[in-house]
Amino acid sequence: MSARKPIKKAVFPVAGLGTRFLPATKAIPKELLPIVDRPLIQYAVDEAREAGIEQIIFVTGRGKTAIVEHFDVAFELETTMAERGKDLSVLEPTRATPGDIITVRQQVPLGLGHAIWCARAIVGDDPFAILLPDELMVAAKGGGTGCMKQMVEAYEEVGGNLISVLEVPHDEVSSYGVIAPGAQLSDTLTEVTGLVEKPPVDQAPSNKIISGRYILQPEVMGVLKDQGKGAGGEIQLTDAMAKMIGNQPFHAATFAGRRFDCGSKTGFVEATLALALEREDMGAEVRAMAERLLTE
Ligand code: G1P
Repeated sequence: MSARKPIKKAVFPVAGLGTRFLPATKAIPKELLPIVDRPLIQYAVDEAREAGIEQIIFVTGRGKTAIVEHFDVAFELETTMAERGKDLSVLEPTRATPGDIITVRQQVPLGLGHAIWCARAIVGDDPFAILLPDELMVAAKGGGTGCMKQMVEAYEEVGGNLISVLEVPHDEVSSYGVIAPGAQLSDTLTEVTGLVEKPPVDQAPSNKIISGRYILQPEVMGVLKDQGKGAGGEIQLTDAMAKMIGNQPFHAATFAGRRFDCGSKTGFVEATLALALEREDMGAEVRAMAERLLTE
């Protein structure tokens, strides 16, 4: 057992415009697009809860209130379903403990770093998690735990700041935050000696990219306060984290599980197919359908 302050708060930046999925996301937040029958945001919130996180902090923006509605009690729907004798258990994951969903607004899309900074008053003096819902992280086929749970376990060992990483082909690194790896502590844990957001391929310190899960110390908020614009003209979380290296422990953990990039259309389709194929209630039917479509 360790004496570290437990991770009870998680920030979900959900203010993004979702332009890559237009027109689908004109009136619907991209975080509510479903993978089979669960919206993307539900996967991220479930992953956080599995890791013991209690406070869900959404950094939202205009047109995103449906995300909060999703985690509310839908009185008319539930009353009507109950009257008709329908099973309400499917709504169970959408029920938040009263008081545990908190929203703050990011009025202007100035970047991920700025979005996180918008949550500073709620984060206060506690270490906290960040989950980017676009990155769908699911347990390994056949079982295992989710990404944030694995990170919390690693955090209990090393403390400080921890980010999840994965390897991508070298020519893809410019789309991500990239780490400069230091000493390898175990099969899954590496020291981080540098971080760079969206580097040109020939300047990338490795092919290990930040995959959208973080456990950070609250001091990052003070760094973000004065963080200038970086890659893409945005205030980057990666740049603020880079400044913390050397002052606080900084490690990267490789997730033993699967990742789908649901910020891209093909990644979204891949996730839908992969998760549908392993569903007990539809897997066989989807497999037969996919095989038929492939031979047509
Ligand atoms: C953000 C982060 C980047 C990270 C990526 C993961 O970039 O800034 O470091 O690798 O998420 O998806 P974005 O996708 O918002 O451009």
